[in-house]
Amino acid sequence: MDKNCHPNLTILDHPLIQDKMRRLRDQGTPPTDFRRLISQVAGLMTFQASRDLAIEETRVSTPMEETSAARLAAPVTLVPILRAGLGMVEGIVSLVSEANVGHIGLYRDEETLKPVAYYCKLPPMVAEGPVFLVDPMLATGGSAIEATEVLKSHGCRDIRLICLVAAPEGVEAMAESHSDVQIFVAALDRQLNENGYIVPGLGDAGDRIFGTK
Ligand code: PRP
Ligand code: URA
Repeated sequence: MDKNCHPNLTILDHPLIQDKMRRLRDQGTPPTDFRRLISQVAGLMTFQASRDLAIEETRVSTPMEETSAARLAAPVTLVPILRAGLGMVEGIVSLVSEANVGHIGLYRDEETLKPVAYYCKLPPMVAEGPVFLVDPMLATGGSAIEATEVLKSHGCRDIRLICLVAAPEGVEAMAESHSDVQIFVAALDRQLNENGYIVPGLGDAGDRIFGTK
């Protein structure tokens, strides 16, 4: 697939990310390791996805003298899509400790593959700065599209979607609905299978994080 199918798609092929992705894909990786790796990859991806965040000059007093210093210019909001997005939160807030965290609850109907919304709680300042929308999997794109619509309806304009594994179908669907959203993925896989799962993928991310299967 053409990696230019979305105008704002970035594939993060850093060696450390790719090595951890191999372990995440391995069906023999136990839930404890799977959770730790998801969190670590999310942190590494955020490092790149936050590369162009606006900063402003301020002053700080070191033990020696006062000097100029930078700080983030706008509040950052992290929004995991429940459930599996929760696995990415710790790795990101360990880097952006002042981030506020909102939650959007969606699950995929197993028959229709359409997202079903069941929860939404966003911080009051969500529209005042960049939003990192996170979910390990971008399959049909239905969940990410719905979550993006929720964020836009709250006034958000700078939305950055971070997914570990994406299917071409999901990236193309995002391009049709939300070409303005920056998308960061660690892997762009071959396709969806007949059940709407990404292949080769890593299986059901939520079940592997929470040990529910
Ligand atoms: C998974 C995944 C995404 C969604 C992706 O969640 O975490 O949210 O599917 O599929 P889509 O791109 O086709 O919408 P799931 O619905 O399995 O819920 P869970 O996180 O509660 O396990
Ligand atoms: N959700 C997952 O967790 N994995 C897939 O491959 C597709 C949707």
